[in-house]
Amino acid sequence: MKIALFPGDGIGPEIMEQARRVLAKLDLPGLVVFEGDVGGIAYKRHGHPLPQETLDMAKAADGVLFGAVGDPACDNLERHLRPEQAILGLRSHLGLFANLRPATMFAGLEDMSALKPEVAREIDVLIVRELNGDVYFGEKGMRTTKSGEREGYDIMSYAESEVRRIAQTAFRAARGRKGRLCSVDKANVLETSQLWRDVIVDVSADYPDVALSHMYVDNAAMQLVRNPGQFDVIVTGNLFGDILSDQASMCVGSIGLLASAALGERQTDYGTFGMYEPIHGSAPDIAGQGKANPMAMILSLAMLLRHSLGREADALRVEKAVAQALEDGVLGADLGGTAGTAEIGNAVLEQL
Ligand code: NAD
Ligand code: IPM
Ligand code: MN
Repeated sequence: MKIALFPGDGIGPEIMEQARRVLAKLDLPGLVVFEGDVGGIAYKRHGHPLPQETLDMAKAADGVLFGAVGDPACDNLERHLRPEQAILGLRSHLGLFANLRPATMFAGLEDMSALKPEVAREIDVLIVRELNGDVYFGEKGMRTTKSGEREGYDIMSYAESEVRRIAQTAFRAARGRKGRLCSVDKANVLETSQLWRDVIVDVSADYPDVALSHMYVDNAAMQLVRNPGQFDVIVTGNLFGDILSDQASMCVGSIGLLASAALGERQTDYGTFGMYEPIHGSAPDIAGQGKANPMAMILSLAMLLRHSLGREADALRVEKAVAQALEDGVLGADLGGTAGTAEIGNAVLEQL
């Protein structure tokens, strides 16, 4: 088994350190671990946010664990050299089109949610976010209008086949859960969304056991805080999924808790090749202070164990250890507590 660790920028290396300790504790037989540079640090060391050797390392692995990228010092670089291109490049070069972002309440955290405890308690949603298309990967640029103004543009589009494959992922996921799928779009305004909705309806014919509904994204953002318990699986495009998943994290309690898996079609000897990352970023405002919550990173490792290494029992063990630490009141500053990054790591290791 081969995995690649890409710590990246800001809090990325701090939280990756805790994931590394968890890995060491699990002591998986035959596991080989590589490490590579991504993001701002890769730009500084190699002149590119996603060096060829990092990409090759990812391709040679069964799974990739990704910290976070983003550095305010790089925000004025040409776009193709910015740290964020590392994550976008990996997702597209590796064909990782299906992003699973689960948001589930943890026992004992109900009072830490931004929502009322009785509302927060009900949240158990899987956001299936399309990850290779949409306005993220369309033609973009700056141009000058006839009147001489600068104009920025980004083309939003989805091809039928792109919607079909993410729909299949989402219907299958719903089948394995409570059997409800809500497709989120903006079909009242966008042609991209009309196509999205038509294809989702088409694919639903193959999943008569799944109850399909549709919701406009503005309403979905509202419903997610009004009554998140109504959702089982949400399927949506790249941009809407990005936004709704950050919002869902605060329904649970903190962005420092939400993990994600980016999966494609490639199978390895042990499961599906994928890249795993917390949904949050490099958090420059707290980087270097030992304050970051490493739980989203550790839970991302659990997803890697499950999906790419076929180690379900180890994945459950790690998830239980995190849940128990939370139940025992080991809370970082993001959850109103005082535990630092290493202390949270210690608590998880103790549980293991
Ligand atoms: P962010 O997610 O980095 O931070 C948002 C807020 O949440 C900040 O106040 C931060 O301190 C807090 N936060 C995030 N993770 C935390 C954790 N584990 N523990 C405690 N608090 C945490 O989003 P941002 O500030 O909009 O972006 C910062 C940089 O990260 C930007 O360069 C952005 O492009 C990048 N980014 C990268 C990724 C990624 O690598 N996957 C994701 C999102 C943003
Ligand atoms: C995420 C991030 C990325 C995204 C950025 C860093 C490109 O916000 O993974 O949620 O927008 O997909
Ligand atoms: Mn995001």
